Amino acid sequence: MNIAQYKDIIQKNLEKYFEEYKKDSSYSSIIWESMAYTTLLDGKRLRAIMCLECAKSFGLEIEKAMPLACAMEIMHAYSLIHDDLPCMDNDDLRRGKPTNHKVFNEAIAVLAGDALISFGAQLIIDKLETLPEIKLEIVNDYLKCAGAFGIIAGQVADIEAENKEIDIENLKYIHKYKTGALFKCSMMIAAKLARVDSNTLFEIEKYADNFGILFQVYDDIIDCTLSTDEIGKTAGKDALVNKLTYVSAYGLDGAKKIFYSLKEQNHAILTKLDIKLNVFDEIYSILEKRIN
Ligand code: IPE
Ligand code: IPE
Ligand code: MG
Ligand code: MG
Ligand code: MG
Repeated sequence: MNIAQYKDIIQKNLEKYFEEYKKDSSYSSIIWESMAYTTLLDGKRLRAIMCLECAKSFGLEIEKAMPLACAMEIMHAYSLIHDDLPCMDNDDLRRGKPTNHKVFNEAIAVLAGDALISFGAQLIIDKLETLPEIKLEIVNDYLKCAGAFGIIAGQVADIEAENKEIDIENLKYIHKYKTGALFKCSMMIAAKLARVDSNTLFEIEKYADNFGILFQVYDDIIDCTLSTDEIGKTAGKDALVNKLTYVSAYGLDGAKKIFYSLKEQNHAILTKLDIKLNVFDEIYSILEKRIN
């Protein structure tokens, strides 16, 4: 399957899950509108795609991993809604549309983000078909990723690093957690569902860690090289608020070199494991086109 085909089935399944759960919920409809708004807007769906491609290459039917892929997109949407809040990055534009708090309001946006975290976990518990002990480990991974062991650790460090001297170790930490945690979780829970051996799991973890940093390096680059129209969010924001990024630390060329070196390392990991993650080639090529 290529990216377009993956995107299509992910979108359909997300819509299906929202429809089903919204009907059964006694919450006011505004919270569901707000939760669905950001989640269903046109994103690249990379985390879900990587989850499904991993599951497939480890011998599972894609359908089996669908609750995981959708849960990761739902967690991602939570992280975007909160990241855009006035108290965080204060952004007006996301996925080419007004941010969640602009359409609804700040209180609803905070609550929608919170509700999305639990919605994703609920989806895994309700819909994933696997042994109870595997499900428990996967839900645990999901919750750790969403919280202070994952995204939040990185977001706190990111906010605290604004307007400070460059500290490379800290920069790596920020990217590994605020962005890498989601990519790592997406691949690891698919690998765990497929019950791969411990060596494969170890290598996949390294791969995903590298990809997470590579992806945030890409995001740091396009923030200062592409236009608002091209990225669907306000361009040039990082420099404006003095964010610690790979571009501010290494310059544009330095950041690109790091991107390519991480890509090389990941190529070597897959060669060693002798597995193919075909759709990843398409992903790298899209990212490369946008940084060059
Ligand atoms: C945006 O992620 C947040 C970062 C980690 C940089 P994406 O660039 O994957 O956002 P969507 O899902 O395509 O909108
Ligand atoms: C990405 O950080 C991490 C999260 C959204 C959790 P950014 O702040 O760089 O993401 P964008 O650029 O707003 O998408
Ligand atoms: Mg941010
Ligand atoms: Mg941001
Ligand atoms: Mg960014």
